[in-house]
Amino acid sequence: MGDETQQALSALLHERRRFGPPEELAARANAQPGIYDEAAADRLGWWAAQAAQLQWDEPWSEVLSWHLPDARWFVGGKLNVAVNCVDRHVAAGHGDRVAFHWEGEPGDRLTISYAELQRLVCKAANALTELGVREDDKVAIYMPMIPETVVAMLACARLGAPHVVVFGGFSAESLRGRILDCEATTVITADGGFRRGAASALKPAVDEALEQCPAVSRVLVVRRTGQATGWTEGRDHWWHEVVNRQPETHQARSFDAEHVLYIMYTSGTTAKPKGIFHTSGGYLTHVTATHRLIFDIKPENDVFWTAADIGWVTGHSYIVYGPLANGTTSVIYEGTPDTPTRERWWEIIERYQVTILYTAPTTIRTFMKWGDDLPGRHDLSSLRLLGSVGEPINPEAWMWYRAHIGGDRCPIVDTWWQTETGGVMISPLPGITATKPGAAMRPFPGVEAEVVDNEGKAVGNGEGGYLVLSSPWPGMLRGIWGDPARFAETYWSRFPGSYFAGDGAKKDEDGDLWLLGRVDDVMNVSGHRISTTEVEHALVDHPAVAEAAVVGASDPTTVQAIVAFVTVKGGVDESGGVGVEELREHVAAVIGPIAKPRQILLTPELPKTRSGKIMRRLLRDVAENRDLGDVTTLLDPTVVNAIRERMGAGAGEDD
Ligand code: WTA
Repeated sequence: MGDETQQALSALLHERRRFGPPEELAARANAQPGIYDEAAADRLGWWAAQAAQLQWDEPWSEVLSWHLPDARWFVGGKLNVAVNCVDRHVAAGHGDRVAFHWEGEPGDRLTISYAELQRLVCKAANALTELGVREDDKVAIYMPMIPETVVAMLACARLGAPHVVVFGGFSAESLRGRILDCEATTVITADGGFRRGAASALKPAVDEALEQCPAVSRVLVVRRTGQATGWTEGRDHWWHEVVNRQPETHQARSFDAEHVLYIMYTSGTTAKPKGIFHTSGGYLTHVTATHRLIFDIKPENDVFWTAADIGWVTGHSYIVYGPLANGTTSVIYEGTPDTPTRERWWEIIERYQVTILYTAPTTIRTFMKWGDDLPGRHDLSSLRLLGSVGEPINPEAWMWYRAHIGGDRCPIVDTWWQTETGGVMISPLPGITATKPGAAMRPFPGVEAEVVDNEGKAVGNGEGGYLVLSSPWPGMLRGIWGDPARFAETYWSRFPGSYFAGDGAKKDEDGDLWLLGRVDDVMNVSGHRISTTEVEHALVDHPAVAEAAVVGASDPTTVQAIVAFVTVKGGVDESGGVGVEELREHVAAVIGPIAKPRQILLTPELPKTRSGKIMRRLLRDVAENRDLGDVTTLLDPTVVNAIRERMGAGAGEDD
């Protein structure tokens, strides 16, 4: 942890403001104060009671079987996740309730009821079956934020075919890597999507990726933008042609509680993304319970909006599975907050009378920059609760969110979790917790978290250390696809017996938790996880690059920004003119635009220790313009001064 983080932290810990729950909300809240004691008194029994709210086709015989690191929840139980999310509500007489208010970026709108969703999912499941998709086939979904994305996920879940959603901003190469790693046989995509007012193609990246994916035998293409697209006869099928002609009913089978529901790739500390996989019963229990209790969901009244992309875990758990399992009405918006104007979100909240908004601090800070007057022009009085996720929320952003979006009346739930945890693990409960601006506060009922020192010993109040989860939870990842050794090593070896999250945390004097960000080589850029190694590999992949070191430098808006130090073959001057912009574009082509470095500095040498290790700590100091600490272990201490001078002179600076 850097000095600046420490300073920011001590300021945080002197934060004395408290915001108690509004009385009316507290009186009617789904989570009442006894809940923590109840869950602590019988943890497994409490989770079993949450699971019992779902529809099971066969009961489980054991709540948890735990042989570290292998957990099985609701052993022997059987259910169908899609039936729980859709058919169950129609059968209970809620078919007319709106499942989604969807809004496309160009302004097209569609409202889909639960009954309609059921028909759509059944047709899509029939279509996939006709094309030959079977249980355990992996289906890659590379889509914009359109209703068909949700329908495709649910159709896969209905068939027991694990989906692998790949964020549409990833490159062809990233898509290919994921398809090959999980051996997907099927891809669902679209011609393109709308972003910042223009059509942005997706299908060409699929075509490029599939040049080297012989196992993919079918591609289903949704027509969204109407762009011309390449076509491989026999492999490619239009969604509307195959899906529209299918029957509207489909007999769902039930699957084991531990049947794989999906794989989601996320960055770790090495160059290769990890395929985190989640299973059915425990995951659905976890996301449904956290959604109902943390967001205080009243399905008959609430309009819930998770403003995140379905391509990330937040979208999986809190746009798709949690909200649908709770029979909630949700909003899905395809585009960016500034299209066509910077008031788009506030118009959406007014139009659909959104009651609960869930988003990331980085977006909140962007809105702060755009000015208070924009939300101020809209009637946001339908809102009753606000959520935050993805990175630590600074008290200024928290207070702004509360005042300007929440009208000083909405509680804020700052929710800490990860792709690996499946659902929220640490958060206030809105009818119970007196919140502190910037603190995630307490483990969710039934969750056991601790802050430990280097030796794994719990720290006292007022102290900081590493966040660990001390017992298994229903939504936990069941592994890294195809790599059990890496699963055990990454999460379960650092502190024996506990799950190591990779985050730093502090317990304040009251024992409440404050999250401090990653303690490993994973960067957090606008809430997206990107590994320094992954970007380094992408840079070195360029023929002119000899060596690269990447650091995450603190950034006021995006939390961290990617800064790269690069040496080129033959030295800077004889490089044959490889430009910084070319390298940035190269990273975008290899990983995706989200991984483009903010800044690339071409330098004759990188600072190394005598044993040849690149001193990333020093480079971070340089990138953040801090005084350099101890440089005596460096092989050649003059290198770092040379880099600093170039940095100061703006050499290689971009933007
Ligand atoms: C960070 C996103 C502080 C953290 C759901 C974690 C947070 C990583 C918070 C996981 C929060 C997420 N406060 N930090 N409320 N929520 N993080 O897998 O560093 O994309 O390890 O999952 O985001 O990112 P992921």
